[in-house]
Amino acid sequence: MMSIIKLENITKIYGKKDNEVRALSNVSLSIEKGEIVAVVGPSGSGKSTLLNIIGCIDSPTEGSYWLDNSLIKNSKQKDMARIRNERFGFVVQDFALVERYTVKKNVLIPLSYSSKKISKNRADELLERLGLSEKKNVLASDLSGGQRQRVAIARALINDPDIILADEPTGALDKNTGFEVMKILTELNEEGKTIIVVTHNSRVAEMCSRVITIEDGMIRNT
Ligand SMILES: Nc1ncnc2c1ncn2[C@@H]1O[C@H](COP(=O)(O)OP(=O)(O)OP(=O)(O)O)[C@@H](O)[C@H]1O
Ligand SMILES: [Mg+2]
Repeated sequence: MMSIIKLENITKIYGKKDNEVRALSNVSLSIEKGEIVAVVGPSGSGKSTLLNIIGCIDSPTEGSYWLDNSLIKNSKQKDMARIRNERFGFVVQDFALVERYTVKKNVLIPLSYSSKKISKNRADELLERLGLSEKKNVLASDLSGGQRQRVAIARALINDPDIILADEPTGALDKNTGFEVMKILTELNEEGKTIIVVTHNSRVAEMCSRVITIEDGMIRNT
């Protein structure tokens, strides 16, 4: 069976010589298409670093990364940017919305970096699906936390990516709102999206089909 994501002996070292930080050490893992995987582990263990490498935001120092059986070459920034935009949707803890933009304008941001042909109506459809139709023209600064994260999910989906990378998507939300956000992610998974969720919350991890634990930049074998 072909894995959608395959990492082999990935090592990531930040900084130089005396200030070297080994964020990941010989990480190997495979993720199958359609999985929803939780990544857990202590602060500083390398979870975000792992997500950034998978999402082509950052390159590993050593090791190989295959996306759909094709080797991601570290050198070509342009190719990395294209893959990032076409294949991945990103959701982060602090939502990363542009506060002075309306909800709809926030959702449309990734389109300006994309060559994918996307229908103009897609933003409206996504906002409707996420229960935000009435907030379309409201400034992001005027939303609640749960609403912000739903806008961020709509933005992550605008390019119709097949993989969603979520870095503590419920970290800034209360329990119920966090649960709502996870419900949206599990529904998207049921529709076929491959999803990786970094979390400190065991309830969130329990909603995933598999849990990967990272400690000190290494995957703990369970
Ligand atoms: N850009 C960077 N430059 C130097 N060191 C970095 C950089 N980014 C991360 N690190 C270091 O790499 C290690 C792993 O960081 P990472 O952000 O991946 O951890 P994390 O598991 O996501 O932690 P948290 O749960 O707190 O978000 C840490 O020691 C961190 O200080
Ligand atoms: Mg992190």
